[in-house]
Amino acid sequence: MKRNLHEIVEKNVGLLTILILVAISFGAMVQITPLMFQQQVMEPVEGLTPYTALQLEGRDIYIREGCVGCHSQMIRPFRAETERYGHYSVAGESVWEHPFLWGSKRTGPDLARVGGRYSDAWHIAHLRNPRDVVPESNMPGFPWLLENTLSGEDTAAKMEIFRDFGVPYTDEDIAGAKKAVQGKTEMEALVAYLQSLGTHLK
Ligand code: HEC
Repeated sequence: MKRNLHEIVEKNVGLLTILILVAISFGAMVQITPLMFQQQVMEPVEGLTPYTALQLEGRDIYIREGCVGCHSQMIRPFRAETERYGHYSVAGESVWEHPFLWGSKRTGPDLARVGGRYSDAWHIAHLRNPRDVVPESNMPGFPWLLENTLSGEDTAAKMEIFRDFGVPYTDEDIAGAKKAVQGKTEMEALVAYLQSLGTHLK
C-alpha cells in the first residue's frame, strides 16, 4: 500500500504534535519578533512617572481584590470606546507595568483613564458600598479597605524588584517607601492608584 506523507503524519501522534508545535511557534514568532524591535512599544510615553509607593501598594490591593476580573484597563482604538473612555491606550503607557492589568472582562467600565474623573470622596463612598452612589450597580462593596492599614514592611522590597525590571525608582524613592505608606489605609492606597490611571498621556 502506498503511504503518502500526510498519512504518515496523521497516524503518528508524536510526529503530529511536534509539527503542530513548529507551526504554532512560527506563527507566534511572526507576531512577536517584530515587536521586539519597535521603539514605540518599548519606550515610555513622555512624562510617564513610576507609581509612588502608595500607588504601588494600591495596585497590589487592586490585584488582591480581583478588580481585574470585572474591569479592563485597555481602551481599544474604536470610536465607541474613545468617546466613552478617552484616548485609546498606547503601549508606552504600560512599559513599567509588571504584570499588565489590561484584563479582558468588562462587567464594569474600563478603568484605563479613570484617574481624575471622580473625586477621592466619590471613590471612597463607591468602594465602600457602590449602591450609595450608583443605585443600579452590581459591583461588590469593599468596606474592609477602610479598616485595614498598611505596615509598609514590604514596600521598599517591591520597589527594588520593579527597579530590577527597569522601572526608574531612585534610592530616595526606595528609602522613603515605608514612611510614605505606613499607617495609611488600604482605601487611601487604592484610591491613590485609581486616581493615577491614564493620566500620563498628553
Ligand atoms: C463583580 C464585578 C466587579 C468587581 C469585582 C469590581 N467592580 Fe468596579 N464596577 C463594576 C460595575 C458593574 C460598575 C458600574 C456601576 C458602578 O459604577 O458601580 C463598576 C464601576 C467601577 C468604577 C467606576 C468607573 C466609572 O468610570 O464610572 C470604579 C472606579 C470601579 N468600579 C473600581 C473597582 C475596583 C477598584 C474594584 C476592586 C476593588 C472593583 N471595581 C471591583 C463591577 C465590578
